[in-house]
Amino acid sequence: MNIVYHDDVKISVEMAIGLYRKTSLGERRPVGRPDIFEGMFKNASLTISAWDGNRLVGIARSLTDFVYVAYLADLVVDEDYQRRGIGRRLVQETGKRLGRGCMIVLFSAPKAHEYYPKLGFESNPFGWVLRDS
Ligand SMILES: CC(C)(COP(=O)(O)OP(=O)(O)OC[C@H]1O[C@@H](n2cnc3c(N)ncnc32)[C@H](O)[C@@H]1OP(=O)(O)O)[C@@H](O)C(=O)NCCC(=O)NCCS
Repeated sequence: MNIVYHDDVKISVEMAIGLYRKTSLGERRPVGRPDIFEGMFKNASLTISAWDGNRLVGIARSLTDFVYVAYLADLVVDEDYQRRGIGRRLVQETGKRLGRGCMIVLFSAPKAHEYYPKLGFESNPFGWVLRDS
């Protein structure tokens, strides 16, 4: 399997929603709101995508200043392609594009809670969300 990673490919809203819907993250993102998805991808500062030929199989979407902190907003891998190292590689590819020492911060979906320690992330109890700003 030859998976290719890009940081400069425009991902259509339909493709992105299609991928999210194929995974449990589809329950936690506004997949019924293409207008919001459009803004999510247009305004993200760093989006790494993983491709098997012309099939989109993974996304890491971050909001970042590239020097101090990157907020990894979404990490998603097509269910047919999970557990083959694509998620790990998407995080590595994100890290490669950040300045030395730049942190990656995220909120884990409950189903991925056991995943992030495997990639070296430490849990932090001081996260806060204002749901309706
Ligand atoms: C979580 C997710 C991104 C992982 O991607 P992946 O490509 O399957 O993961 P990888 O193959 O890179 O796995 C790396 C390691 O974590 C392990 N792992 C994978 N998924 C795991 C999970 N859900 N829980 C615990 N460990 C997991 C793998 O076995 C592997 O272990 P190893 O290094 O000992 O071999 C993917 O399962 C997914 O898209 N899930 C649905 C969406 C989601 O929950 N995203 C996270 C939102 S915060």
